[in-house]
Amino acid sequence: MWDERYSVDEYVYGTEPNSFLASNANLLEGPVLSLAEGEGRNAVYLASLGLEVHGVDGSKVGLAKARALAATKGVKITTEVVDLSNYSPAHGVYRSIVSIFAHLPSAIRRNLYPLLERTLPSGGIILMEAYSEAQLKLETGGPKDLDMLMSAEKISRELPGFEPIVLREIDREVNEGTFHNGLASVVQFIGRKIAIRS
Ligand SMILES: C[S@@+](CC[C@H](N)C(=O)[O-])C[C@H]1O[C@@H](n2cnc3c(N)ncnc32)[C@H](O)[C@@H]1O
Repeated sequence: MWDERYSVDEYVYGTEPNSFLASNANLLEGPVLSLAEGEGRNAVYLASLGLEVHGVDGSKVGLAKARALAATKGVKITTEVVDLSNYSPAHGVYRSIVSIFAHLPSAIRRNLYPLLERTLPSGGIILMEAYSEAQLKLETGGPKDLDMLMSAEKISRELPGFEPIVLREIDREVNEGTFHNGLASVVQFIGRKIAIRS
């Protein structure tokens, strides 16, 4: 489904970065792991700030567009086609993780999220924006499946190893390409990995 969606010349989520990410990118340190990177708008933006970025996604068509966007903008990113249902990030490599509209079923999150916690060092940052459960009644983007929509409560429960710097559910205008357009209900999260006491 994603390869098909991305098999058009246009960048369906645009070429500008997600605005929550852009407003908070100063908190990130590289190397950055960008989950469900899609067509590369966020990885390319972070690379333009001088950060080393690795973008992973299930769509090889999306990631080919990501590499083309990076070449157009004169920045370097690395990409990897992965299925997040069985993905295990390299340990001890990344200092930050970005997850923008990376909507996954709870069965995948249950395996993946503890691995995300484990891969970061103490103090490492995760930055996430996702449509919230309140988005189900809106027609401005996101999956029509409650299980794949997020909430502050789900984030607290599923990512307990992070101290929240930002954790809020808000309504905001999201105008990011053809499929994300209009007033939307989102959850925004920036968490710092809690130091493990020995
Ligand atoms: C709504 S798009 C968001 C893309 C990008 N983060 C952005 O904001 O422009 C969701 C992305 O999740 C990816 N995705 C969904 N399920 C996946 C899975 N199980 N494994 C890998 N990628 C997946 C899709 O390929 C798609 O690129």
